[in-house]
Amino acid sequence: MNPDSNQLIFDQPDDHQYLVNKRTFTDEELFEAEYSQIYDKLWLYVGHETEIPKPGDFVTRTIARRPLLLVRGSDGHVQVYLNTCTHNGSLVCREPAGNRDFFPCAYHGWVFDRDGELKEVPGESAFGPQFSKSANGLPTPPSQASYQGFVFISFAERGDLPDYLAGAKEYLDILSASSTDGMKVMPGTHIYGTSANWKMLPVNVIDGNHFLPTHVTYLQYLQERGSEMKHPIRDFHESVLGNGHTVFEYEAPWGRPQGKPDASWSDEVNAQVEARREELIERLGPELGDRIARKNRNLVIFPNLIINDIMGVTIRLAEPVSAGYMDVTAWQIAPTDDPPELAQVRNEQFLTFLGPGGFATPDDIEGMEASQRGFATYREVPWANYSKGIAAEIAGGLTNPGESDFMTRAFFNAWQGYLGITNFSELP
Ligand code: FES
Ligand SMILES: [Fe+2]
Repeated sequence: MNPDSNQLIFDQPDDHQYLVNKRTFTDEELFEAEYSQIYDKLWLYVGHETEIPKPGDFVTRTIARRPLLLVRGSDGHVQVYLNTCTHNGSLVCREPAGNRDFFPCAYHGWVFDRDGELKEVPGESAFGPQFSKSANGLPTPPSQASYQGFVFISFAERGDLPDYLAGAKEYLDILSASSTDGMKVMPGTHIYGTSANWKMLPVNVIDGNHFLPTHVTYLQYLQERGSEMKHPIRDFHESVLGNGHTVFEYEAPWGRPQGKPDASWSDEVNAQVEARREELIERLGPELGDRIARKNRNLVIFPNLIINDIMGVTIRLAEPVSAGYMDVTAWQIAPTDDPPELAQVRNEQFLTFLGPGGFATPDDIEGMEASQRGFATYREVPWANYSKGIAAEIAGGLTNPGESDFMTRAFFNAWQGYLGITNFSELP
């Protein structure tokens, strides 16, 4: 059967074919449908509670095009507000982060406090007797909930964050179990733009196929510094976690500050890493302890959160701007109780591979942007091919890492399910 070029996905397992229409990465009308069916409805990651540890600490974010303000209130509770003045709509906070007792709106001087209450209105009596400050506090998004310190909001009424996270909960639990003292987001934020459709970022993260060709420079570097390179990716497991979430878990050549020593680190640091590993095994048992210490996890929580727990741990948030452009914001999350030497090595690891000037991120961005440029040929060459591994799946054999698009297919199936259409002709 030949695909109809208006279909979003051409899924023909009998022919071992799974093709995604390249226009799904370029079409602005489809992009608007993605906003109304996905970004305006699902749970979205906003930030981590450890970014704002003290009352009055705040950060501002743009999520699904809305300006948001996350503040730790007087009672210690983290609250997300829509960063818009109840007077004439202006942003009430224009800074990326800080600590404040009050948020004075710069436009006409209305003043809100750190608990979202409106405290001062210049010329208040002129609004008449029916005006009430208590009814004009900072507005909140319809839904907010946290899991293991990860704060999510939704612009729809929802009460089901744990259900929504589904199998991804286990991986947030594993991450937070990395240290007895807990994990915290480290100061410093990576902010970069990528000229690629937002779907390319999660698909890049769960795509084991690109690792060897794209990151060859990093692998050469690892080899030069003495890492064992016989089987670069081994003991792997790819899992579909429900609701569009996926994880790729594997052992890799690099050391992990969480519990896998590395030939290039000092004896002192490797002893600290070993101590971490032993503590994990003692506290959580040999299986889970070893798994947390040794194995890497690339986790996608649909649609906008990516956590790569590899040689460092990065949290990435994707904000779709247009069909062909996204903003990416990334942070490092790390145990609060690292000795200083280990903290320094962890930071270097994080920057070397995951930083915007590191070995991986620029190469991944280049790969995504080059695909995006190629997607402009969607009229002549409509299909991106994600069929790798179907034949082996049907035969019942597990494919090797780098030999399957299994999770990419799971991602696009979930995406199409949320969109609720299968063909461009169904767009409103
Ligand atoms: S818009 Fe904020 S005080 Fe007028
Ligand atoms: Fe990559």
